[in-house]
Amino acid sequence: MSATVVTGISELVTNDPARERGLLGILEDAALVIDGGRVGWIGPGSAAPDADERVELDGQTLLPGFVDSHSHLVFAGDRSAEFVARMTGTPYDGGGIAVTREATCAASDEQLRALVQARVAEMAALGTTTVEIKSGYGLTVEQEARALRIAAEFTGETTYLGAHVVPPEYHADRAAYVQLCAGEMLEACAPHARWVDVFCEPNSRYAFTEDEARHILSAGKQHGLLVRVHGNQLGPGPGVQVAVDLGAASVDHCTYLSDADVAALAGSDTVATLLPGVEFSTRSPYPDVRRLIDAGVAVALASDCNPGTCNSSSMPLMVALAVREMGMTPEEAVYAATAGSARALRREDVGTVRLGTSVDDLAVLTAPSHRHLAYRPGMPIAHRLSDAVRLS
Ligand code: NIG
Ligand code: FE
Repeated sequence: MSATVVTGISELVTNDPARERGLLGILEDAALVIDGGRVGWIGPGSAAPDADERVELDGQTLLPGFVDSHSHLVFAGDRSAEFVARMTGTPYDGGGIAVTREATCAASDEQLRALVQARVAEMAALGTTTVEIKSGYGLTVEQEARALRIAAEFTGETTYLGAHVVPPEYHADRAAYVQLCAGEMLEACAPHARWVDVFCEPNSRYAFTEDEARHILSAGKQHGLLVRVHGNQLGPGPGVQVAVDLGAASVDHCTYLSDADVAALAGSDTVATLLPGVEFSTRSPYPDVRRLIDAGVAVALASDCNPGTCNSSSMPLMVALAVREMGMTPEEAVYAATAGSARALRREDVGTVRLGTSVDDLAVLTAPSHRHLAYRPGMPIAHRLSDAVRLS
């Protein structure tokens, strides 16, 4: 494989604190060399070495590809009517998950695979290079294992979410479903999953209590799965505390937090993953991100792409919402959507631009600065580098 020098980078966002400027470690007027599919040199454009090939970016921004650390892409069906009802005041309570479950279970493997493939392609077209995908719309042993098998065809970041909601056939015996999630279903799913997750939410009658969540997550851990949690989405609750106690990599949503929750996160390795597309699409209050940042909590941004609470996988949209609606600076939002979300997946190989970074993990903005992600909301300016330019 030949080496390519990429020049004309107006801003190179490295997220590397050892480099130049600010949280994003920005180098201006930069160049880099791709050698053998990996970054082999980073520096000022004026010092760019010769290489076999040259790609001129002509004043564009180069940055780590977005890491979408929370998505539910394995689903079929449509809940646009539920969305429209929400826009006129019907609150979200998780009840629609059963609707998606029915459509998902009715779909063939080929249909589901095609749906996931199309969704992953939509993400890639907007600059996402790493994606986590959860199960959670099967809710039987066979269907959850099938969802994870299909998800694993597209990513190594697969999450077993059999404990998404208690399905109707178990409403009279929740304990039996919890046992299934921590037993037979887990056994069938663990070989296809890296993570275990639970929707721990006392404010939804469909979701799981603190004790139920601890039981299922602990069983997942014993099977070698790493922990992440859906918590504190619809109101205050135990999700954050459960996540921190079990050493979760991330607790996601964090819309309603107590002072004790913020303190627990600050003293832990658990990332608070914020999902502003959910608040946007459910017309809910946004989380107080400044409180988290001021306390020293590590923050990530992800899409939560799913048919109920946010049917968008656009990470540029999440950055724009984080800036406009949550008051993050563009720097903070871009960092959270790349390095922050990489940390939420415990990944050190993505979310930064360093020597050795794979070319497949790089993105480019047809814009002179990362600020344009928030400044030009809804515009298709983010691409994977490998889609935007021809690299030999
Ligand atoms: O992350 N909170 C639970 N799960 C999803 C929503 C799933 C759905 O409504 O289909 C979420 O918001
Ligand atoms: Fe989710």
